[in-house]
This record gives sequence, C-alpha cells and structure tokens, in this order.
Amino acid sequence: MSTSLRPLVHDCDPGTDDAVALLLALHSPELDLLAVSTTHGNVSLQSTTRNALELLDFAGHAHVPVYAGAEGPLVRSPVYAPKIHGRGGLGGVTLPQTGGPEVSGQPKPLHAALALLELADRYGDSLTLCATGPLSNLALAERLHPGFLKGLREVVVMGGSIEVGSPKLGNVTPWAEFNAYADPHALRVVLESGANVVLFGLNLTRQVRVTREREAALHALGTAAASLTASMLGGYLDMIEKRDQKIGALHDPCTVAYLIRPGLFRLEAARVHVNTDEGGTSGMTTRTEGAANVQLATWADEDGVYELLSERLGQK
Ligand code: BDR
Ligand code: CA
Repeated sequence: MSTSLRPLVHDCDPGTDDAVALLLALHSPELDLLAVSTTHGNVSLQSTTRNALELLDFAGHAHVPVYAGAEGPLVRSPVYAPKIHGRGGLGGVTLPQTGGPEVSGQPKPLHAALALLELADRYGDSLTLCATGPLSNLALAERLHPGFLKGLREVVVMGGSIEVGSPKLGNVTPWAEFNAYADPHALRVVLESGANVVLFGLNLTRQVRVTREREAALHALGTAAASLTASMLGGYLDMIEKRDQKIGALHDPCTVAYLIRPGLFRLEAARVHVNTDEGGTSGMTTRTEGAANVQLATWADEDGVYELLSERLGQK
C-alpha cells in the first residue's frame, strides 16, 4: 500500500455535507489538502466562502488557502438550497464566528478558477480534484485552459442521478440532482473534458443514509469534530423532516471516503449525458450508449463509510 500523500483540492459549496466532507479530508493523513475553492450552490458564494474559512479555522487548518470562485452558473440564474442546508448553509449550526461581523480568515485575492490552474501547473498529474458543488469553477478553468481537467490524476464529483425510471430520480426537481441542476452546462464541460472523472450521483449517495441513530453515535464519540458533524447532520435532518422526508443521505463525504478507502465503493465505466435544455428536465443526467466518460459509482458499503467517518472524526 502506498504511503505517499495525495495532493488534493476541494471545490465545494458548504453546505452541511460539504462541511462533513471537508472535515473528513482534514482528519485523513492520506490526503494533503492544498486548497479549498468555493462556489455558489447551497447558499451564496459569500456564505460558502465564509463557511469554508470558519470550518478550516475550527479544525485548526486556517493555513489552508481558500479561493472564492463563481458567483453563479455559466448560463442560467443561480439556485440555492436554504431549505435543506439552512440560511447560513450549515444546518443552522453556528461556528464561533458565523454570523458575526468579522470572519477570522479571508479568501485569497485570486479567482478559484485561476487558482485551480495554478495548482494544476504546480502539481500536474499528481493532483486530485474533489468537487462537491455545482461545477462552475471547474468549467471556467477548463474553458480558460482546455485540457486542464484531463491533466489531473482524478476528478471526483458528487453530481447527477442515474436511477433511470425511478420515481426518486432527482432531489431538486423530479428529474435533476442539485449540483447538476445548479449548473448543467458546467457539468457538461466536465463530462466532455476527457478527464478521469469518478461520478457519485444520488443513485450512490442515497445508499449512505443519515439517520437519527447515526447522528447520536457521532455525538457520543465526544470529539469537537464529531460533535460538530452530528449537529450539522441533525440540523439537516430537521430540515428534511419538515419536508416529510424521513431519511437523508450523506452525499458529499462519499467522494472523500472514496479517496481514502476506494474499496468501500464499486465503480463501473459508463457514459453519462446531462440535459442542458431550459425546461422541466434541465439538469437530468442519463446513462447512454457510447464510449465511457466516467467511472460511475454504483454501490457503497454504507456501514463502512460510517466506520471510516467515526474512526477519523473520533480521533482524540
Ligand atoms: C448535493 O447538493 C447539495 O445540496 C449537497 O451539498 C450535495 O452536494 C446533493 O444533491
Ligand atoms: Ca455540496
């Protein structure tokens, strides 16, 4: 087994589950988190950026640079998800500085898309990109420097939903998953880039459920990181229960869990298309005939993902 650190950039829109993914990465010695880039998504860019800065500060990693990126999608108007993640984006949880006039750190004065290109120049094909929000920053960087994504080691994405024919296909519309819907054109750029994309859609992440029992088990671990995670997941469950959904899903952390312990997931080569038309099925992702453009995650060891999360966040 290789012991070398994997250089990683996390592009995200925290977001309760983005926050858990970030905490998992920060508590995992296999990963060398070089930077966090932020995008519009669950809440505004301003809020996702503030949340990223505060989470890094909370975890004792304030030295990790944060680059703010796209304020909105490439073509359509922004859509947000405050009814799932709370107005601030972290499930109603207040970190020490959240909501105050001052944020302890500041984002670096460079657009996230340019920062991604700089990091790719520096780290080349050893760099992994984990994307857990709308894919606007990745697409902007790819447009500025075609081939950028293809030059990376792996691009691990939470987005889409490939349960063809299922009534539970989407989570923001009956057809579309949130990250795909929030910037379908950007997802298309990523899918057509020729990059080594590993795709975690709702078809996979819904296998890794968030329940009250798991919230309680995380709280019981007693560390600051596990308690914060339990509180955020509890806030998320409160929100979805108000919407008459009883079970949530641990979407974004699946991407980081895959980077640490790939054996927790099964992948298969597939061709995935995203619908960029305006209209009811905008953002719908479908599996089509033709040459594979992703490694599609199809199965998860649900208990194994929670064991990993508990092991890492429970470290004293
Ligand atoms: C995705 O959408 C967001 O609300 C979550 O953070 C996750 O990235 C799930 O559809
Ligand atoms: Ca997200």
